[in-house]
Amino acid sequence: MSAPKRYTITAALPYTNGPIHIGHLAGVYVPADIYARYLRLTGNDVAYISGSDEHGAAIPMRAKKEGVSPQVIIDKYHGIIKKSFEDFGISFDNYSRTSAKIHHETASEFFTKMYNDGEFIEEVSAQLYDAEANQFLADRFVVGTCPKCGFEESYGDQCENCGTSHNATDLINPKSAITGNVPSVKETKHWFLPLDKHEAFLREWILEGHKKDWKPNVYGQVKSWVEDGLRPRAVTRDLDWGIPVPLKDAEGKVLYVWFDAPIGYISSTKEWAAREGKNWEDYWKKDDTKLVHFIGKDNIVFHCIIFPSMLKAHGDYILPDNVPANEFLNLEGNKLSTSKNWAVWLHEYLEEFPDQQDVLRYTLTANAPESKDNDFTWKDFQAKNNNELVAIFGNFINRVVVLTNKYYEGIIPAPNDFTEVDEDVLAAVKEFPNIIGKSIERYRFREASQELMNLARLGNKYLADEEPWKVIKVDAERVQTIMYVALQISAALAVVSKPFLPFTSDKLKGILNIDDKLSWNDITEKEILLPAAHQINKAELLFSKIEDKTIDAQIEKLEATKIANEQENKVVEPQKETIEFDDFTKLDIRIGTILEAEKVAKTKKLLKLKVDVGIDTRTIVSGIAESFKPEDIIGQQVSVLVNLAPRKIRGVESQGMILMTDTPDGKLAFVEPTKEVKNGQQVS
Ligand code: 2FM
Ligand code: ZN
Repeated sequence: MSAPKRYTITAALPYTNGPIHIGHLAGVYVPADIYARYLRLTGNDVAYISGSDEHGAAIPMRAKKEGVSPQVIIDKYHGIIKKSFEDFGISFDNYSRTSAKIHHETASEFFTKMYNDGEFIEEVSAQLYDAEANQFLADRFVVGTCPKCGFEESYGDQCENCGTSHNATDLINPKSAITGNVPSVKETKHWFLPLDKHEAFLREWILEGHKKDWKPNVYGQVKSWVEDGLRPRAVTRDLDWGIPVPLKDAEGKVLYVWFDAPIGYISSTKEWAAREGKNWEDYWKKDDTKLVHFIGKDNIVFHCIIFPSMLKAHGDYILPDNVPANEFLNLEGNKLSTSKNWAVWLHEYLEEFPDQQDVLRYTLTANAPESKDNDFTWKDFQAKNNNELVAIFGNFINRVVVLTNKYYEGIIPAPNDFTEVDEDVLAAVKEFPNIIGKSIERYRFREASQELMNLARLGNKYLADEEPWKVIKVDAERVQTIMYVALQISAALAVVSKPFLPFTSDKLKGILNIDDKLSWNDITEKEILLPAAHQINKAELLFSKIEDKTIDAQIEKLEATKIANEQENKVVEPQKETIEFDDFTKLDIRIGTILEAEKVAKTKKLLKLKVDVGIDTRTIVSGIAESFKPEDIIGQQVSVLVNLAPRKIRGVESQGMILMTDTPDGKLAFVEPTKEVKNGQQVS
């Protein structure tokens, strides 16, 4: 494509069945935002579009669970999600929702046009049915074993383990997600998109046409789907939540959520265009528009196979130029999960790190899961903040601003002769917009963020090498030049940081007293960015150090979540085999008191105890060292199985066993009398 005239940038529409977390931000919205902001800064015509996906099957399910209507759920989460995006500076030109009237109309018209053009197959087929719930089961309403990878918790439409997309009837051992029942089958009529019919087009367009420019993870997935053989996919469902199928004989049927959701990009564009006095069709139908879909890897099939087949079949529409899908972000080694509360929620982050949106944006970009799954750790977050944002970027700016105020009352000094080092530094600064821009245009946002930091490093090194704070004592004229050069670097940083760190960029512009007139290309093209005699403002900290205790609190919060999840998932052990009363009476359990306790050397779990069990005082080795400190349990009454045959544990003979139970926090607790009793008292 020759230089595009305009860009339509879409970011996956999030489901409104929960708030959004760092995985959403890292995978989709921050990279898309960097891309959109960069394109705007370089003078392009951009529509950055998203909205809430409000017809997902998880929505009515959640509503049922909470005993409210689906509308209550979507209103609540649409509000929370929209606010999180605003708070994090995600600069959508429009954020709509699929419950909007304009979307219902757009999706219905889209379906009707395809229907009238004979693009669907109408078929009565046997579908899974839950008689108790009186509902057909598809998508999230049914779970079973994935026919491809054997994962036992696959959903009806997609396996979260291997990413394969399938029909609900393909599942092995399906079970209703509503009642847990094994479904029966019942006949019902649906409309199918014959993907097989579009195979030749998909092969030519993607497999041949985008071999080089699409990311290998995206290209590879598409290739494997096409080569596995494409089959017709139902685009309607028997449900009462969604957009009604706009046909006469389709009572009780709605459009499949994955049919209507991507059309949401079009409806959202329409909403924006109407508001801004633009023509939405330019952004969806003109060949000189570049369409780019930002998504997570679980959405690849829908954006690379199904939606393009719909656009193609409908006619008139352009196709995506690229679909730079990201892999997944994990959190402290585990998969992010809304249902398990294993996440850093954006609204909670802001409560705990107010005004530190850019720190998270930066961390998620520098560590983005661009080519493989990646892990977010709080320690890494702290390191990125303290060692890069504070120590490099913030430190450089702070020194420049403080010294300019100290030496010149904030008025930029006139430079004297430039040295070779000055010339080289000024020339290097001019290269950065181009270097960063190239990385962004190739969807390499990690790389781009590192180049941004390299510009700050250049400034830091320049000051460290030139040492104006020393030179001022001997050569005040030279310092004027050093500070002048350092201020040019600062201005460049203020401009090129904007796509990545929009809040910091604005703050820095405020400090340098420059407005948005300085453009991306000015850095390269203009001789100077900040002229001599320009007045800057006082220093303000751009970033602040994050202490260990703040990070430890976050890690502890996750630990608590983990324990809560384990407790919730803990299966109550089934009852053991029945025993006779005589078997029970063989057990001699007594109350005793711990007299001494010490750790067994070279073990993590064992304590060696001296216990007065009434009959005698004996040695017992017990695996409780991770739950108790020896000094804390002296005098503790415990229940002891005293007639257990002695056995040697780590060289110590243990003459009995202390009875313990697990507690919700993952520790052990003693089984003890509620009142103090005599040692040797029997438990029966
Ligand atoms: O996976 C998801 O969260 C979907 N709601 C994404 C939809 S993207 C688009 F097609 F609308
Ligand atoms: Zn699978």
